[in-house]
Amino acid sequence: MVAFPAKHLLAIEGLEPPHIADLLDLAESYALLNRSGKTQRDLLKGRTLINLFFEDSTRTRTSFELAGKRLGADVINMSVSTSSVNKGETLLDTASTLNAMQCDLLVIRHAQSGAPALLSQKVDAAVINAGDGTHEHPTQALLDALTIRRHKGRLEGLTVAICGDITHSRVARSNIHLLTTMGSRVRIVGPPTLIPADAARLGVEVFHDMKAGLKDADVVMMLRLQRERMSGGLVPSAREFFRFYGLDAEKLAVAKPDSIVMHPGPMNRGVEIDSAIADHPTRSVIGEQVEMGVACRMAVLDILARRLPRNR
Ligand code: NCD
Repeated sequence: MVAFPAKHLLAIEGLEPPHIADLLDLAESYALLNRSGKTQRDLLKGRTLINLFFEDSTRTRTSFELAGKRLGADVINMSVSTSSVNKGETLLDTASTLNAMQCDLLVIRHAQSGAPALLSQKVDAAVINAGDGTHEHPTQALLDALTIRRHKGRLEGLTVAICGDITHSRVARSNIHLLTTMGSRVRIVGPPTLIPADAARLGVEVFHDMKAGLKDADVVMMLRLQRERMSGGLVPSAREFFRFYGLDAEKLAVAKPDSIVMHPGPMNRGVEIDSAIADHPTRSVIGEQVEMGVACRMAVLDILARRLPRNR
């Protein structure tokens, strides 16, 4: 195992293949531990993990909570709707409060791209980005990669089609960085209004037609239409979007016969994905993604805790 290069996990961009491979190997061992029903509560004993979520979350927040508890940390969920942030406290004032509480690991989700990086300069804790604006969502990319690796045995040489609202998706950005770093061929598929202008710089192939983009793909990753981040009408209507870009059996038929279907959730059934595909017993790995989310977050907490001073 190589030493992890940073105190924080703020992004996938900048990580080298051995760092990613180590995290995935460790996560795989946690996936097995979780399936065996065992825990490892001595690992983070005496450590405090604070979940600071300024945006809605179901999967990410609960899986960080579970991950922390399975490793023995004291886990605190700070609900922003009831905290002093609503009384005008700034992010940096919140940071000094967290410092005074001697938090060791801080998981943050924020609508502003760069908020976790800013906070990481002000707190003593190791900071983990749980999604910042349209920038990155590194643990989501790790859990997606682990899920793919479990099904395909590798990441290198695979064709992965990431489809839908790419522009507003931090999940897409983190996945593009991770998968291209690990040698996958990444395609992004969506209407021109939802593809970022700098797409070519990201080392991906761009498609505006679903069937062309899905042809012979090993992995089809669907994304939610992030209406809360759209300033205007970038999409004509949900019905029309589904007709051209929604994943149904007919469009999936052009991908490889053993291709897997992924979605980070929350899903808009009938908008970006047909229910029959989302619930498909062999092709859909959406449930497994959630399971791998806990394992990957355990691996990240473990790796970052190794770099923390023992007694603060
Ligand atoms: C994603 C997010 O919040 O970026 N969800 C998640 O973490 N599973 C994707 C989304 O909101 O569509």
